[in-house]
Formats: sequence, C-alpha cells, structure tokens
Amino acid sequence: MRLIICRDYAQVSGWAARYIAKRIKETAGRDRPFVLGLPTGSSPLGTYRELIDLHRKGELSFSRVISFNMDEYLGLPAGHPQSYRRFMEDNFFHAIDIDPKNTHVPDGSAPDPEAECRSYEEAIAAAGGIDLFLGGMGSDGHIAFNEPGSSLQSRTRIKTLTTETRRANARFFGGDPEKVPPTALTVGIGTVMDAREVLIIASGYAKARALKAAVEGGLSHWWPLSCLQTHPKAIIVCDEEALDELRVGTVRYFKSLEGPVPEGSNPKGER
Ligand code: GLP
Repeated sequence: MRLIICRDYAQVSGWAARYIAKRIKETAGRDRPFVLGLPTGSSPLGTYRELIDLHRKGELSFSRVISFNMDEYLGLPAGHPQSYRRFMEDNFFHAIDIDPKNTHVPDGSAPDPEAECRSYEEAIAAAGGIDLFLGGMGSDGHIAFNEPGSSLQSRTRIKTLTTETRRANARFFGGDPEKVPPTALTVGIGTVMDAREVLIIASGYAKARALKAAVEGGLSHWWPLSCLQTHPKAIIVCDEEALDELRVGTVRYFKSLEGPVPEGSNPKGER
C-alpha cells in the first residue's frame, strides 16, 4: 500500500486528479476503453473539479472512459435530488465528454434490486473489469456502503446502513438521519478488490480513526478498508488532518518513501 501525505484537501484533490488523468492517458492507444470506478460524497468533489479543469483546458478526454459508481440508495429514483446518479450528473458528468451510455450507477428504483446487483457485476465484467477504483472512506472505515462486519469477499448487493452512516449523510437530507434511506445497493469489497488499482481519498479529522485502522491495524471486517492491505496496487491519498491518529514513525516512514508532494492547481479546494 502507498500512503501519499498531502498538506490539505486541495493538494489531495490535485494529486488524485493528476494520477487518474495519467492513467487514462496511458491507455489512449489500447483496444478497449479505460474503466473507472467512482464514488460520491464530499471527498471526491475536489478531484472531480480538478478533472473537469483538465478537460476544459483540453488536456484530458473521457470519450474512451466507462464509469461504474460504487453505490446508490435503495428506493431513490435516478432523478431524486439526493440520488447518487443525480450527484454524479451535477458534480461531474455534465461537465466532461463522457458518453452518457458509458456511465453506470446502480438503479436504486429497480423493480428487482437483487437482479440489478447481479447485472451490475455482469456489466463490470463485460467491460473488462475496473482499471482504477476511486473511493472515499466512511468515518467507521466503510468503503462504498460496505459497513463494518461486511464480508471482505462480498459482491454487489443490498446493505443496511448503520446509524453512524445515516447520521453522517443526514447533511444531504435536511439534517434528519431518518430521511436518509435505510438501505443501499453497493458494490462489494470483493468487487473493489478486483479492480487493478484502488485509490482512496481520506481528508479531515473525522477520517483519522479509520485511516489508522486501515494502515496500522490488522486485516479485519470491522474496518472494511483494511482490505487494501491485501491489494497489490492500493493507494491512500490523505491530508495532514486525517493523519491525527497515526504514529509519528508511520508518518515519517511514508513521507520518506514518497518525498514531497507537488502543489495542486486549486489552492482553495473548498469541498
Ligand atoms: C458514503 C458513501 C461512501 C463515501 C462516504 C464518505 O457513505 N457511500 O462512498 O466514501 O459516504 O463520504 P464523505 O466523503 O462525504 O465523507
């Protein structure tokens, strides 16, 4: 696992965007498109803005990219203002040249959600598997909606959200956790682990406990992100605040391996 330590959120966003852009460009001459896994939440917003910026400057095209989002609330139709499909349209897809047919988000209003989960896995496989899965991190260490206790080999399925996650996401539902749907469709930990690369963004003090568990703790279903320890190509890019619980020696170790991180292009980098 690589741990890239940035000063702040702006630098995290710049680093993540440049990394993704580099990977997409490297596959320009390849016979199949680049397959990108994508998250929602506050963490990736800066990265999406940086990627949009690169696209607007003519430096990056998404015309040969297929995307698969991690998750969607069960019961929310695509047009619902808080659906993850809507989040992706508003914060990313509308501003880039990705073919809408190539964007996939689990359908939260599918008549048969279990069949939807199965066909989501089939669609990922048919696209050739995910090249790079970008993700965030829940404060309890969840990835996508794989809450603590999730099988580390799980596939796309329906999950019940914890009280902590519904509280954390209440900010998008008028501050009321009861309004956050209680269940979601989510890719599994096994689905994420099948990606050729995984890139996780961790920013802010709220993620410090989960980051410590993922980096310094043992492999455990209680901290789903610890799964990255067994991935051949996993990167966590984090800011100084998220380091708060790590040992000084751990921070020094990763800083000495990676060296100084270049500045992001978006100095303000607000979420
Ligand atoms: C939700 C999403 C996750 C995301 C997490 C953290 O639970 N399902 O994919 O990583 O929120 O969100 P944020 O980045 O807003 O802290």
